[in-house]
Amino acid sequence: MSSTDATPLSEDMLIIHGGTPLEGEVTVRGAKNLVSKAMVAALLGTSPSVLRSVPAIRDVEVVTGLLRVHGVDVELDGDTLYMDPTSVESAGVEEINVHAGTSRIPILLCGPLLHRLGRAFIPDLGGCNIGGRPIDFHLDALRQFGAVVEKDASGTHLSAPNGLHGIRYELEFPSVGATEQVLLTAVMAKGTTELRNAAIEPEIIDLICVLQKMGAIIKVHTNRVIEIVGVDELKGYRHRALPDRIEAASWASAALATEGSVFVRGAQQADMMTFLNVFRSIGGAYEVDDDPVEGGIRFWHPGTPLKPVALETDVHPGLMTDWQQPIVVALTQADGLSIMHETVYENRFGYTSELRRMGANIELYSDCLGGTPCRWGRRNFLHSAVIAGPSKLHAADLQIPDLRAGFSHLIAAMAAEGTSRVYGVDRYITRGYENFEEKLLGLGAKIERPVTK
Ligand code: EPU
Repeated sequence: MSSTDATPLSEDMLIIHGGTPLEGEVTVRGAKNLVSKAMVAALLGTSPSVLRSVPAIRDVEVVTGLLRVHGVDVELDGDTLYMDPTSVESAGVEEINVHAGTSRIPILLCGPLLHRLGRAFIPDLGGCNIGGRPIDFHLDALRQFGAVVEKDASGTHLSAPNGLHGIRYELEFPSVGATEQVLLTAVMAKGTTELRNAAIEPEIIDLICVLQKMGAIIKVHTNRVIEIVGVDELKGYRHRALPDRIEAASWASAALATEGSVFVRGAQQADMMTFLNVFRSIGGAYEVDDDPVEGGIRFWHPGTPLKPVALETDVHPGLMTDWQQPIVVALTQADGLSIMHETVYENRFGYTSELRRMGANIELYSDCLGGTPCRWGRRNFLHSAVIAGPSKLHAADLQIPDLRAGFSHLIAAMAAEGTSRVYGVDRYITRGYENFEEKLLGLGAKIERPVTK
């Protein structure tokens, strides 16, 4: 992943003295994968929007920058974001390209910008390096809506000379981003859109709530069918983002792997049901406090040996691919052979080579080692892992390859004996984990930054 982060690599490092159970509580705010999309939706309004529970993460900064270059007035007050899109304007290729390679969100600006301005320019995308991550579904759907797509060396230019019109469209795979693309474009396209094989992640349902507040008409039918009736105008919204269930599961897995106990304030049972079942099957314990303000879920290691499990990731309501990495670290401590079959991305086990250097016993296979044959098995990708535990993890110098893998490296270093140095924390972890260092210190982790001369 390219980055605009100016931190020299040697300073972008955290020293972790492992072997201490994490004990205490952390708070999770709005989900990164909803907040960034709700910010894009604000572009569609004729009046200002207010988004609450916004986490202080770099992806929010990137989308703030993208909105600002398009004339949106964005102000952050605490964790409340005010966005005024009344003076939206086209931005120059150069000012947009400042954000090239930093995030996948720019592709979602296409529909809103085409509606507001009749044209859009999208820079080269970034995001985590966890597979090819093509955007063919996005561009294909946009073309069907009536967009003209032209690529050149600077990026992708789009226009809509005849306006955008509702479509009947079936996704090859229930892609989160492509579903959001269709939603953000269809809400103001002329006529009705029917999307089949849509993704139905809680973050998508929350985005639908945002769009409905703005005046959209969106019907979620059974069997992954979403129907959108285009309207002529949308207004601003007021919305509290749903909590980040990926961050919540990361802290839960850290509690389990370090034999600790962490109360995750803000974690919600309904959105995490599949994770909670897995957590319990492994031998972890949890307790739900459903107080609407102070509530959350406490996760802990009950002191009995962890049990091996066979799992596969899937689209919602299956096991999230973003939960896979922290769970695998916890499984290195389970007593026996566990299996993890990754069916969403073709290349999401790169991080296991670093875990192996720490003493984990993990082998990768190109076969589909799960109940569901997936598209990656046929194409020979190393997308199944067998984890033999329990392994005594020892400290190592680790290089973070991407956001979620990075947090799993932190967990492994905290569970390991000795002092590890984890490189790339500023570049990767800050994209999606708010104040992670303060949170780690609050949980008793023994971490420090290198002394700079
Ligand atoms: N795909 C295509 N063509 C497309 C779009 C997707 O082949 O045009 C494929 C992808 O290559 C992948 C699969 O479809 O194999 C699923 O990708 P999806 O579009 O669902 O992912 P995304 O929208 O790019 C979001 C999250 C990811 C999360 C996935 C799956 C955001 C910003 N990112 O990505 O989150 O893993 O959905 O739930 O919402 C993260 O937070 O660290 C992260 C990577």
